[in-house]
Amino acid sequence: MHLARRLELLGSHRDVPPSVADGLHDARRQALDAANKLRTVARDLRPPALDELGLVPALSSLAVDESTSVENTTINLSVHGDVVRLSPDLELAAFRIVQESVRNALRHAHARYVRVDVNFSPDELHLVTTDDGRGFREAVDSSHPAPQEISSMGIVGMRERARLMNGVLRIRSTPGVGTRVEATLPLVLAHDATAFGEASQRA
Ligand SMILES: Nc1ncnc2c1ncn2[C@@H]1O[C@H](COP(=O)(O)OP(=O)(O)O)[C@@H](O)[C@H]1O
Ligand SMILES: [Mg+2]
Repeated sequence: MHLARRLELLGSHRDVPPSVADGLHDARRQALDAANKLRTVARDLRPPALDELGLVPALSSLAVDESTSVENTTINLSVHGDVVRLSPDLELAAFRIVQESVRNALRHAHARYVRVDVNFSPDELHLVTTDDGRGFREAVDSSHPAPQEISSMGIVGMRERARLMNGVLRIRSTPGVGTRVEATLPLVLAHDATAFGEASQRA
């Protein structure tokens, strides 16, 4: 039985003095908090939808979740090409890059419209997030981060994830107009990743 439920039953027992019942009540709340935090941490490590359903459904639910967190911003996801399951590493990198770019658009840009384009081409996965928000000054396509990039890890993290997948991340932002974050990642299919994994285990 769930710990919180056991604590609740103990606390409601008629032989339990009120002070002990209060303590059990607090303990029950803490158990529920801990369970919730654990669920969030587990989901943040790797969103379950990613493994179960793949990148596109995971991005659809991200778009829904993120747009309910703000008012007056529309998030539009548009998928092009033949959707295929990708290697777990690539799916996670792609998901995290889109997640961060969308969160940045919602948190910093005050955009009215955020658009995510996902394009599956035979060789590449192409992810583009555009917003019509306030924009910012950044180091365009430079390997040197702009000052505001250094203080925070979001953009640095997106670049690093793209690099680890042998891809590139480009940001173009125009103050007053909006921002475009574009990741181009070489396609690694799910079954190629398995074959590679098995081959490297045998080696
Ligand atoms: N889409 C955007 N529109 C406007 N400003 C942005 C956008 N994305 C990033 N920025 C600016 O770049 C900074 C760095 O972003 P990031 O590295 O993700 O860190 P954080 O989100 O933690 O501040 C932000 O603080 C913000 O000033
Ligand atoms: Mg950020």
